[in-house]
Amino acid sequence: MPLIDQSVIEEIKLRANIEDVISSYVQLKRAGSNYQGLCPFHSEKSPSFTVFPGTSSFYCFGCGAGGDVIHFIRRAENMDYPSAVEFLAKRYGIPITLDKKEQAETARRERVLAMNKEAARFFHQKLFEPEGAEGLRYLTEVRRLPLPLIRHFGLGFAPNGFGSLTDHLRKKGYTDSEMASAFLCGISQKTGKPYDYFRNRVIFPIIDVRGDVVAFGGRVMDDSKPKYLNSSDTPAFKKSRNLFALNFARKSETDTMILCEGYMDVIALHGAGFSNAVATLGTAITPEQARIFARYVKKVIICYDADEAGQRAAAKAFALLGEVGVECRILKVENAKDPDEYIRKFGAGAFKNLMERSRSEFDFKLEKILAEHPIEDPDHKIKALEESVRLIASFPSPSVREIHLHRIAELLGVPPDSIRRDVEKIIRGRIRKDRREETRQFIRQTEGYGDRINPDFVKNPGAASAEEAILGILLLHPELYGQLQKSDKPLQADDFFTAFGKKVFTAFAERIDDPTFESGMLGEVLSVEEMDRVAELKQNRSRLQNTLTVLRDSVARLRETSGRREQSLEDILNQKRRKKDN
Ligand code: CTP
Ligand code: MN
Repeated sequence: MPLIDQSVIEEIKLRANIEDVISSYVQLKRAGSNYQGLCPFHSEKSPSFTVFPGTSSFYCFGCGAGGDVIHFIRRAENMDYPSAVEFLAKRYGIPITLDKKEQAETARRERVLAMNKEAARFFHQKLFEPEGAEGLRYLTEVRRLPLPLIRHFGLGFAPNGFGSLTDHLRKKGYTDSEMASAFLCGISQKTGKPYDYFRNRVIFPIIDVRGDVVAFGGRVMDDSKPKYLNSSDTPAFKKSRNLFALNFARKSETDTMILCEGYMDVIALHGAGFSNAVATLGTAITPEQARIFARYVKKVIICYDADEAGQRAAAKAFALLGEVGVECRILKVENAKDPDEYIRKFGAGAFKNLMERSRSEFDFKLEKILAEHPIEDPDHKIKALEESVRLIASFPSPSVREIHLHRIAELLGVPPDSIRRDVEKIIRGRIRKDRREETRQFIRQTEGYGDRINPDFVKNPGAASAEEAILGILLLHPELYGQLQKSDKPLQADDFFTAFGKKVFTAFAERIDDPTFESGMLGEVLSVEEMDRVAELKQNRSRLQNTLTVLRDSVARLRETSGRREQSLEDILNQKRRKKDN
C-alpha cells in the first residue's frame, strides 16, 4: 500500500536534518534546544514557528501547521507526499524505489520533458531554415536581438502549417495524446486529428532550474491577437511555480533579482548584462513564486511596465515578497514603456543608473499618495496626511517607522510628535482587532464550527475530544498501542465517532506493525491540512504525564459518550450559557 519504499523515507529522515532543510526557507534563531522563526505558512510579525531538532519536527503555535520534514516540504513547495519525498531524496542523493503507479507517472513526466526538448530543438532549427526566415527577421531586425542572445535563450520559430511539429514528433515516436497532454498540439473536434498548437509564431522556451524545457510561449510577429500563446499546466509544468530565465538568474552571483513582466524584457536585460532578470509567466506574481525568490536572493527590484497596470501589479509584488522577507525596491523606466524598450533606446549604462535610483516601498507608495493629493490644497493635504499615517503604520519596525515619520513631518510641516501619536493609535487599534479576531477564531475552533478538517466535532464534542486525546497520545507514544490493545475489548475504528477520527485511527492501525513506524507515515493517506491537525493533536499533549492512564480513560470516555444522540447547536449554546451563569 505505501507508494514509496519505507526504507527510502527512513533514510531521508535520518539524513535530512530538519533545521537545515527549513533554514533554506525560514531564518531560524536558536531558542534553547529548539529554533524559532517567522512562520512561512501564515503572515506574522513575531515568531511562533518552532523547529524541534530533538523530535525532527516543526510546529507553528500561530497557525497550527506542523509535522516532520516531509510534511514541511509538502507545504513549502506545495507538493503531494510522493513528490516531497522525491524532492528530499534528490537533495540528499538517495535513490528512490517507487511502486508501479508512481513509476508510470514519473515515466509520463519524463516523456513530456523529452518531447518538449525535441520540440524546442525543432523550433530552434526552423529559425535558421528558409521556412523560418520571417521569424529570424522579426527577432534580429524588429526586436534587435543579436544571434548569440537568440541562441542563449534557445528562441525558435513555429512554421505556419498545421502539421509541422506534430509530423516531426510522430516520426520521433510520440503519440497524439502525448503531444496533446504537453499542449504541443490540439485535437480537432471535427476530424479527431491533431494539429499544431503554435503556428507562425516566434517561440520562447521556458526552462526550469533542472534545465528541462517545461513549457513554451509563442508570440505573433505583428499586432494580431492573441499576442502570446502559452502552454497550460501539464504533468511537467505549473505556471504559478516557475519563472522565466530562473535557470540563468539563479546562477548570477548576486543577492538581487530583477522582476519584469515580459519575456522580451528579460531577454533584453540579459543581453545588456543583467543576467539576474526573471519574469512571471503571463500572470501576476503568486505566493509560490515569492517563495522562489526568497530561496535564492535577499532583494528584488521590481521592474514592471510603466503603464498603470504595471504599477498596480507592483503593489501586489511588494506585498507578497514582503511577506516572505524579501527586501523590495521598484524601478520605473522613463520615456519608454518597458525595460526592453528602455534598454534599446538608452543602453545598459542608463539602466544601471536607473537601478541605483530605484525607490523603496515607502517612497513608491508615498509618491502615489502625493500624486493623488496635491498638498497645496488644504483638504488634499489632510487626506495625504491620513494616508501617510496609515502607510507608516504598515511598517512593523518601530525605528523604520520613526525614519518615515520624520520625512512626512518635514514634507507636510506637521510636528513629528503628533504624527507619532496618530500612528500609534492605528497600531493599537490593529492589535485590538487582531485580538478580537483571535478570540473569535478560538471560539470557532473550540466549538468546532467551521472546522473543515473534523466537521463532526460539533455533533458530539465530548466524544470528539476523547478521540483527539487518544489519537494525540497514540501518535506521540506508538509503543503504548500494544499495551492498550491487550485488553479484552481492543480499540477499533468503529469506536470512533467522527469520520476524521476513524480515518486517522485506521491509517495508524494499518501501519503500526511496521517496526519503523512514525506518525509522518500517515502523510501517505492524509491531506496536508489533516496532517497539520495530527501535529496539533500531538503538540497539545507533548507535556502530558501518565499517558497510559489518560489513554485508557479517554477510550472509556469515548465509548461512553459516542453512543449519545447528536448534539444540536442549541444544546451547545445552552451549555455555554449555563457555564457562564455558574
Ligand atoms: N502575456 C501573455 N498573453 C498575452 C499578453 C502577455 O501571456 N496576450 C504575458 C507574456 O508572458 C508576456 C507578459 O505577459 O511576456 C508581458 O506582456 P507584455 O508586456 O505585453 O509582453 P512583452 O513580453 O513585453 O512583449 P512585447 O514587448 O513583445 O510586446
Ligand atoms: Mn514589451
